[in-house]
Amino acid sequence: MNIPLTAQSNPGKPEKFDVKAFALELRQDIEQNRIRLPTLPTLSLEALLVVNDAASNMTDIGKIIGKDTSMATRLVRYANSPLYGGVHKVTSVKGAVIRIGVNAVRSAILNLAMHDVFTTHHTLIQDRMEGLWKHSVAVAIRAVLLASYFKQLDRGEAMLAGLIHDVGIIPVLIKASEYSVLLEKESNLDKLVSHLHMTLGKFILSFWNFEPFLIEVAGSHDNLDRDSLGGDVDYLDIIQVANVLSYDGTDHPYTQLDLSEIPVFKKLGIDLIEEVRQKMAAGEYESELTIALQ
Ligand SMILES: [Fe+2]
Ligand SMILES: [Fe+2]
Repeated sequence: MNIPLTAQSNPGKPEKFDVKAFALELRQDIEQNRIRLPTLPTLSLEALLVVNDAASNMTDIGKIIGKDTSMATRLVRYANSPLYGGVHKVTSVKGAVIRIGVNAVRSAILNLAMHDVFTTHHTLIQDRMEGLWKHSVAVAIRAVLLASYFKQLDRGEAMLAGLIHDVGIIPVLIKASEYSVLLEKESNLDKLVSHLHMTLGKFILSFWNFEPFLIEVAGSHDNLDRDSLGGDVDYLDIIQVANVLSYDGTDHPYTQLDLSEIPVFKKLGIDLIEEVRQKMAAGEYESELTIALQ
């Protein structure tokens, strides 16, 4: 199906990209199952079923994860990362599950499955997908650091929230790969992404049956006007901050913001944010967590 991407064909006038038409078609594609949403790898889904089954025990969980050698190796590495690392290294899946704890194995599996979701066979968008994955990891690491200051927040969940916050960009990129005009003019694609990705992110995570707090992260993280001052610091708060901080040292518009004017930065406090910046500059966690997610 074609959409009027170049609705005006007036000679001499630059072709105009019709953002509304693109958005409408993308929505229809999704509603009518014409676009393939990112999917979680089959084995991860199976593992999640076992983890979610209250009757499962450590042995069941270890067995299902052990079926996938790559997942098993990565889970052991993850259990030894600064997220859970203890004095002694664990060397088996069972040891890893025990160290992570049954409650956190779910987020561990999802964190480890996420890289596959950001991998594409569409060559035209591979660079952007890779860039998106790197950005998501950068946000996830900052989220882990931020979460470590708040006892109500779990670092594995914070990492997951960081990894999925921009997942709604994926279908936009996939759809855009059909239109060379979009890929040639980055600014058009950027506009589309910022216009659509939060709505799509909510949609994907609902489709994956993710918990409401993660859906909220995907759906609202760029709404920096959000009044977040009341209540305890939550995952949306730390992802908003982690996302802004991830652009430090770039020319992204977020670096021009006056942070003291943004409610969520007031809520966390500028001192804490400076401390996290310093920890990032010192390379805390960064290489170990990046490796753990590969
Ligand atoms: Fe975003
Ligand atoms: Fe982001």
